[in-house]
Amino acid sequence: MTATTTEVTTVPFMDLRTQYELIEDEILAGLQQVCESTRFALGPSVEAFEQDFARYCEAGDCVAVNSGTSALHLAMRCLDIGPGDEVITVPMTFVATAWAISYVGATPVFVDIDPVTRTMGAAQLASAITSRTKAILPVHLYGQPADMDAIYDIADAHHLPVVEDAAQAHGATYRGQRVGSLGRIGCFSFYPGKNLGAYGEGGALVTSDAKIADRARALRDHGQRQRYRHDEIGYNYRMGAFQGEVLRIKLEFLDDWNAARQSHAGHYRTHLADVPGLRLPEVPDDRTSVFHLYVVELDERDKIAAQLKAAGIQTGLHYPVPVHLQPAYAHLNYAEGTFPHTERLAQRCLSLPMYPELTAQQLAHVARQLTEILKNSN
Ligand SMILES: Cc1ncc(COP(=O)(O)O)c(C=O)c1O
Repeated sequence: MTATTTEVTTVPFMDLRTQYELIEDEILAGLQQVCESTRFALGPSVEAFEQDFARYCEAGDCVAVNSGTSALHLAMRCLDIGPGDEVITVPMTFVATAWAISYVGATPVFVDIDPVTRTMGAAQLASAITSRTKAILPVHLYGQPADMDAIYDIADAHHLPVVEDAAQAHGATYRGQRVGSLGRIGCFSFYPGKNLGAYGEGGALVTSDAKIADRARALRDHGQRQRYRHDEIGYNYRMGAFQGEVLRIKLEFLDDWNAARQSHAGHYRTHLADVPGLRLPEVPDDRTSVFHLYVVELDERDKIAAQLKAAGIQTGLHYPVPVHLQPAYAHLNYAEGTFPHTERLAQRCLSLPMYPELTAQQLAHVARQLTEILKNSN
């Protein structure tokens, strides 16, 4: 039986192994070189990756760190945000976006998303600005850039810096420009399942502000610019050399992998567009999505997810409980119903399998099963 006629019965939500097998030789050779060099923390592999990733993001500099959360935290430190300050972000994100604001003692102020782009709503942003606002932190959710022009209209009017949470959007563009270089600072995660994923934890800040890059570089290494001189209280947020080497190698494939995701999204759209009761992601003409996740919206989400699971299809939820309703943020006193677009998406979101190595048969299986299930449930 050939691959094209093999019947697909299961589709995992993610498949990092297939991708590893495609690049195994290059990765193992790279890791061996790191071992032989014995430069395990920062070092030449990380520096090479920083240069390549800065260029890729069309930014002046890149500072590699040990996670996306650390990158966001350092962004807050580099903008001198602290107690008494407010940073505006969205509650429809992974919680780490808000952690970074809390880590520096500032208060996250949430604003609702736009229901179509599912990123920060500009009207909501405008009405949340106060004299304590120190920065705006939009999230390029699911791989799709936020409405940066509308956000900048408001940011510029109030002289506020914009920090991008680009953890899910490596390579996405807004009006032809790569995310990460749209804000004063762009923050990325290289968690293994991300579009550009390390083989462990990793993250980076990119910026074209040389002072910020210099400060972030010192802060990630215990506040040192010079050995054993600690200019301010810093952290051990250094990237390990194995991760730098893996990321440097994988970056060469990122555009092809993103193109494969975009093609898969096109396949889903072609086969699911007319299914009643299903809302598909919409990408405005002025931007590209790199489809870190392919999130559809539907009623009775949990029931449909269980039926898909029974049909061998794994799905994900991103995210079922918005950040403003998390117990960790109960002290901010946001009531249920405060952000209707966010809360509706949290109840209705379902992430379908999405990764470059998905086969045409797997995509067809997902589309067919979902169509059947929805037809029978109406
Ligand atoms: C939107 C968003 N922000 C921040 C993070 C945090 O990144 P990390 O897990 O690398 O700390 C993630 C990753 O899960 C994310 O998806």
